[in-house]
Amino acid sequence: MNTITDILATMDYGKAPEDSAIVRDWLKKHEAGFGHFIDGAFTAPGETFDVLSPASNELLGRVTQGTEDDVDTAVKAARAAQPGWAALPGHERAKYLYAIARHVQQHARFLAVLESLDNGKPIRESRDADVPLVARHFYHHAGWAEIMEDELPGTAPHGVCGQIIPWNFPLLMLAWKVAPALAAGNTVVLKPAEYTPLTALAFAEIAAEVGLPKGVLNIVTGDGRTGAAIVAHEGLDKIAFTGSTEVGRRIRRETAGSAKSLTLELGGKSPFVVFADADLDAAVEGVVDAIWFNAGQVCCAGARVLVAESVAKRFEELLEKRMRQLRVGDPLDKNTDMGAIVHPVQLERIRGLVAQGVAEGAELVQGSAPEGCFFPPTIAMKVEPASTLATEEIFGPVATVTTFRTPEDAVALANNTRYGLAASIWSENVNLCLDIAAQVKAGVVWINCTNVFDAGAGFGGYRESGFGREGGREGMMAYLTHPKPKARKPEAAPAAPVGQPGEALPGAGARIDRTAKFYIGGKQARPDSGYSYPVQGAGGPVGLAGLGNRKDIRNAVEAAHKAKGWGTATGHNRAQVLYYVAENLSARAGEFAERLTSFGASKSAAQAEVETAIRRTFWYAAQADKFDGAVHQTKSAHVTLAMHEPLGVMGIACPTAQPLLGFVSLVLPAIAMGNAVVAIPSQTHPLAATDLYQVFDTSDLPGGVVNIVAGERDALAKTLAEHDDVAGIWYFGTEAGGRMIEEASAGNLKQSWVEDGAARDWLSRDGQGRGFLHRATQIKNIWVPYGE
Ligand code: NAI
Repeated sequence: MNTITDILATMDYGKAPEDSAIVRDWLKKHEAGFGHFIDGAFTAPGETFDVLSPASNELLGRVTQGTEDDVDTAVKAARAAQPGWAALPGHERAKYLYAIARHVQQHARFLAVLESLDNGKPIRESRDADVPLVARHFYHHAGWAEIMEDELPGTAPHGVCGQIIPWNFPLLMLAWKVAPALAAGNTVVLKPAEYTPLTALAFAEIAAEVGLPKGVLNIVTGDGRTGAAIVAHEGLDKIAFTGSTEVGRRIRRETAGSAKSLTLELGGKSPFVVFADADLDAAVEGVVDAIWFNAGQVCCAGARVLVAESVAKRFEELLEKRMRQLRVGDPLDKNTDMGAIVHPVQLERIRGLVAQGVAEGAELVQGSAPEGCFFPPTIAMKVEPASTLATEEIFGPVATVTTFRTPEDAVALANNTRYGLAASIWSENVNLCLDIAAQVKAGVVWINCTNVFDAGAGFGGYRESGFGREGGREGMMAYLTHPKPKARKPEAAPAAPVGQPGEALPGAGARIDRTAKFYIGGKQARPDSGYSYPVQGAGGPVGLAGLGNRKDIRNAVEAAHKAKGWGTATGHNRAQVLYYVAENLSARAGEFAERLTSFGASKSAAQAEVETAIRRTFWYAAQADKFDGAVHQTKSAHVTLAMHEPLGVMGIACPTAQPLLGFVSLVLPAIAMGNAVVAIPSQTHPLAATDLYQVFDTSDLPGGVVNIVAGERDALAKTLAEHDDVAGIWYFGTEAGGRMIEEASAGNLKQSWVEDGAARDWLSRDGQGRGFLHRATQIKNIWVPYGE
């Protein structure tokens, strides 16, 4: 037995176990196994698999492996419930969400213990972070249901949503998915991860307890096969997925052309940047939260610590000392800092990656961990930027430490990843912090803090970390749609351009060079192929357009990347250029109208198209400095800035009809927001757009901001969709083309917007609006704490 003198001598902690009796009673009640929760009731268990506690390997329960039939039954229940749920006044939906939040709070201790047993995370985390955030999320979204009609007018729910979540924050990820979906009037079929399904099943009981109408929430358990059945089900309108980038990419490919809306919350390899003037003690605590919180099994974990060379030695000493104090062990012990790894499979994955890192030359500094499914807190030094440990998502308690000399170095290292989920920046100089925050490619930036979350701010990534946001207004928008315009007659595939060598029209005038060149990097460029194709008018060919190929697209993308300054120019500067474009277009209105009539348009239609294009250009010029972000109401003593940032380089494939207005309606919002664009004009009548280069040239539009390559739309658009240096693609064309684009864009998970080219009448209000600006931007949430 410990005597007081012993305790004083060692200053060691005694055990402080959380009582798990209520959870054990609940598990005993379900000893026979869990079924799914479908249409307001639990089904009888089917074929089950064991759910073990990773810390102790004890059997917690048996859970049903969902089949395709189970998924189908759940989708049907959700479908039947959806119209009634959406038709409820927002106030009524709010009452249910509010009741769920209250019940989560009432069951908080139960849920925290169950989560810690199932996932292995310390009770301190499930009790103080996961469960309170779950309640907060439902309260926040109860509010959205209440005010949605006023705040988000003109929107409608998607319908039935399939939601697939991972094992690292099982109940919290459920809340992030379910709360906005239900608030917006959707019904859901959700699959928890196979390692950690228990809190979702407990949550189903809470839903029943509050009397949530049957079929609104359905929970189907199972592994990836059940997830795949959800993704493949034709009765779903939206898929929301959080998990690995690999599975996210597969889901992007599998849903291509299905018309299902998709949001993906994927992996990360987030930088944690410590400048020389940072409060080093605070930054060390930051690393503890960044990489040892939930044993590093966090998608936004600050896994790459980048530290200024001048303070690196001191920082590493402090960090090592702090790391050695971390207590790794029983998740239910209130003194535990780091619990178990979720599953032996994940432990093996971590071990494998670390072993590979060591083989590549990394040196490890490690704390200690008990036997079993535990991994010690680890710092990896001497890690080359291109090595496994610096590039692969480890999803374990392993931080790499790398030094940098200048802020430019720090930014280059921070962005040296294919991901873009989060970043944490530490310096006492707030100017420097905000400067770096603007340059880092990440959806969330924490300044002098890390892993801060709130339902009122969006969370989500750039690049291969996925697309879509969870939380806040933008998170609500992910569960709503603006009713899409429908084509009376879908756009027919345009005839393939008939290429011919050279640049002269056959027959009369054959000697006159009449090929409209491409516009690349602010200069006219000839097609790489040397081929051109005739553009037909009412009475035969009216001109020639260059026939673009992959090389032309690649050149255009390169040129677009060189126009970086456009994205950082002020909104005012961009507005000035766009006003100038509008004026110059106006001065040449007659020429453009003539061009359109030469294609066969009536005089009045041609004039209307030109007039609308001019007005639209003014409209986007006006928006350039007005499409503001927001300051969110989140935690106390934090300013949370939601900034609109351009996607970067965008590809735009234009519809065939209304060749001038279609082009202007798509390219202008994109550049107004600071993107550089590679545009493929109307395949049948590209000359209306290629003529615009003269307007751009005389309007001070910097070279490379708009690049135009004509030719076979789908072939050129495919090259853009597959291009790793293109961040987003808009495609307005055929159904087959749209499917191809969604599939091809899975490579670097670029954002895609695909629509029938005939769906919009560009002359109407359908052709313009803030929706275009939203699509042309992504939101970066920057957290700035204040106070001493
Ligand atoms: P995972 O992506 O396979 O699992 C996430 C969810 O997707 C689970 O519910 C799973 O059953 C489901 N799923 C698996 N295959 C599916 C498919 N073909 N179609 C539909 N759903 C499917 O992640 P896993 O295998 O559990 O972990 C592997 C690695 O992924 C981890 O080591 C970690 O690096 C990363 N990961 C990242 C997460 C994040 O939040 N960024 C979360 C979980 C894992």
